[in-house]
Amino acid sequence: MSEANQVEGTRRDFIYYATASTGAIAGGAAVWPLIDQMNPSADVQALSSIDVDVSGIDPGTQLTVKWLGKPVFIRRRTQTEIDSARGISMEDLVDTLARNGNIDREAIALDENRSLDESGEWLVMVGVCSHLGCVPLGDEAGEFGGWFCPCHGSHYDTSGRIRKGPAPENLEVPKAAFIDESTIRLG
Ligand code: FES
Repeated sequence: MSEANQVEGTRRDFIYYATASTGAIAGGAAVWPLIDQMNPSADVQALSSIDVDVSGIDPGTQLTVKWLGKPVFIRRRTQTEIDSARGISMEDLVDTLARNGNIDREAIALDENRSLDESGEWLVMVGVCSHLGCVPLGDEAGEFGGWFCPCHGSHYDTSGRIRKGPAPENLEVPKAAFIDESTIRLG
């Protein structure tokens, strides 16, 4: 039996998660505690993989799911967002590492090294700011049209790379893969 847990990416879930996210931000700094991932217990291991139905995500929108205690952003990008992410030169980046758990740790932060699929339509990231752990706001937020962390003003681009503000690292890309045309497995 697969240990993966099914998560439906329905419109209702999208609205639920969007509302929850907004509520957390409205209440102040939403800090997600970093969990100790060294020696996970059996029950944590059992949840280490979840399947997310992404068939309800339209271009230009995203779904946020909670996985291993953290928010994970699954964004279906527009061509404009992809072009913006792929038109950036490495010299403009604060953090030049891809931070992608699916590839070599030394890989550079080209958008092609961060997006889930070759065309760049899908971007999956852990929604935890690399400064002090707040949850950045999405939907073309901030000065670079990607995500914005209002806690101390960190701006991320449409590839989730830090471009301005105190955050030192790009948003992390977790282990993820399409297991069929409408399902992404995290973990
Ligand atoms: S936690 Fe995001 S800018 Fe400080």
